[in-house]
Amino acid sequence: LKTLKIGLLGSGTVGIGVYKLVEAQREEMPHKIGANLSVKKVLVRDKTKKREGIDQCLLTDRFEDIIEDDDIQIVVEVMGGIEPARTYINAALKAGKHVVTANKDLIAEHGKELLDTASEHGCDLLFEAAVAGGIPILRPLKQCLAGNHLSEVMGIVNGTTNFILSKMTEEGMEFSDALMLATELGYAEADPTADIEGYDAGRKVAIMASIAFNSRVTFSDVYTEGITKITSRDIAYAKEMGCTIKLLGVAKNTPEGIEVRVHPMLIPSSHPLAKVDDSFNAVFVHGDAVDDAMFYGRGAGELPTASAIMGDVIDVARNIQFHCNGRISCTCYKELPIKKINE
Ligand code: NDP
Ligand code: HSE
Repeated sequence: LKTLKIGLLGSGTVGIGVYKLVEAQREEMPHKIGANLSVKKVLVRDKTKKREGIDQCLLTDRFEDIIEDDDIQIVVEVMGGIEPARTYINAALKAGKHVVTANKDLIAEHGKELLDTASEHGCDLLFEAAVAGGIPILRPLKQCLAGNHLSEVMGIVNGTTNFILSKMTEEGMEFSDALMLATELGYAEADPTADIEGYDAGRKVAIMASIAFNSRVTFSDVYTEGITKITSRDIAYAKEMGCTIKLLGVAKNTPEGIEVRVHPMLIPSSHPLAKVDDSFNAVFVHGDAVDDAMFYGRGAGELPTASAIMGDVIDVARNIQFHCNGRISCTCYKELPIKKINE
């Protein structure tokens, strides 16, 4: 049986999760994809650092070791940030390698460029893990709900801020202590400013809006306001009013254009979104045919995120086996105006 080889770019919280899942699923792979799957090389900055469960001899600090290895057909990018991730993904696609990434910063800003490169080279570029961690949301928007005119996608799409707000509300924890705990648990970004200022949620809203409305929305189109100004007094007032404070991301397709925003909102405590706590996320979608649909699950963390990545890797692997790569990453869309939001 043939073995499909993965080049893993990054081995932090998510990279280690992906490695563990590839190992855990080893015996299932022949039945799922008709081939074996293994990680051949792992790109890191520091080769001397110990990585849970990863054999030291797989580590490299040279991207060339992966791009020049013809045996590697699938590249999984879990380094984060714009550069060098953008250069590496473009290079991998141009070399005919399929790419799976969890990098919302990159997709929200340069998604079109990368999808065009993928398309030109007959490669897959998949990024389910970039939005809402372990929750399947991008595929449902792009495929399962494609028969709808989708008018609204909204919800809680950042695990770190939901964890912080939940801890402040339920346990009276201080903002800074809750953030520290979210970082220890692997939910926060390398620079948690992106989480607490609403930028991470804004990037996810841009990606969801682009797919749901079949248009092009980038992070710079999204109005963002984070949770740094929320105090324990705000939390107490919200409780007195029978409400909970949540950081919501909203994308609407209106006759005046696309409206995309992220900001804290007061939600009645009886509302389903008020009950989404810890690092869980939830996304509501409204379509003209399906009516309302809701997606719920773990929005961050090692294994939930690795779960979404493995789903993409398995899709890519099946496409390799059946010679039908490049089908999913097509980029037909219609440019819609973006509605200006007054602060
Ligand atoms: P970490 O900071 O834990 O890990 C990043 C890894 O990438 C490290 O192993 C680091 O190497 C490596 N790396 C970074 N820059 C370079 C570089 N220039 N060259 C080589 N290696 C590099 O991040 P996470 O695992 O938390 O996140 C990874 C990606 O997944 C990000 O895009 C993030 O937004 C996304 N994501 C994260 C989720 C989560 O819950 N954490 C959920 C969904 C998406 P070294 O270890 O040597 O420093
Ligand atoms: N930092 C992100 C979050 C990771 O807390 O939601 C998942 O995208």
